[in-house]
Amino acid sequence: MSKSVVFLARKLSKVYRTGAIDVVALRDLDLEIFQGEFIVMLGPSGSGKSTLLNILGGLDCATSGQAAWRDHNLVAATDDDLTVYRRQHVGFVFQSYNLIPSLTARENVALVTDIADNALSPEVALAKVGLADRLEHFPSQLSGGEQQRVAIARAIAKNPDVLLCDEPTGALDSRTGVSVLAALDEVNRSLGSTTIVITHNIAIAAMADRILHMHDGAISKIDVNTSRARPQEISW
Ligand SMILES: Nc1ncnc2c1ncn2[C@@H]1O[C@H](COP(=O)(O)OP(=O)(O)O)[C@@H](O)[C@H]1O
Ligand SMILES: [Mg+2]
Repeated sequence: MSKSVVFLARKLSKVYRTGAIDVVALRDLDLEIFQGEFIVMLGPSGSGKSTLLNILGGLDCATSGQAAWRDHNLVAATDDDLTVYRRQHVGFVFQSYNLIPSLTARENVALVTDIADNALSPEVALAKVGLADRLEHFPSQLSGGEQQRVAIARAIAKNPDVLLCDEPTGALDSRTGVSVLAALDEVNRSLGSTTIVITHNIAIAAMADRILHMHDGAISKIDVNTSRARPQEISW
């Protein structure tokens, strides 16, 4: 069975110009990611991980080279094109949960499902991340790991083709982090969302199909896991 390539990057470069100084964040990066893969991206701080994720998610635009998701050209796109791409296809999870404090878990998720086609109900999305019994809780009544799982429920509620996560466990202790990883693993397996997770924690790499190692704006190595570990099997 041949897997289809969904993300394709060729000679992708990103230069940030701030005043007189140019910072090269990505240099001639080549990449293919297959439909439904669970990718973990590792690499030192400043190696370009967030820049790459943001370009793949249509939050930022490359300086040169090619990047595409299926037939969406992510380099030549206008801001409006990228907005449509993000809205229709991409779910984001960041280190900060960005929940609205005055809304319950259900209402935070409903903000997204109200505007998306083909959405899961907030109840279904929250059940997928193990929070079926926390629907009416406010963020202040939830632990950090539970808040992050609400953020994941919000990201997956629109049933995204792509789920992009930038250090989603960065603010959590290891036990809480495992519950967040379990939620991402469940979403990837049950919805089939192509998933990319940036992390500093090398142990998390065990749950990936492939591990991309970033170094100095390029991919320095790719490891393949022949069998993915379940998050519960990962010891941090
Ligand atoms: N908005 C920006 N303006 C200027 N430089 C930036 C900006 N974002 C990132 N950079 C620089 O680009 C490089 C890569 O950053 P980033 O992609 O955030 O790395 P990582 O996520 O791997 O820590 C770093 O040197 C960083 O300082
Ligand atoms: Mg980063």
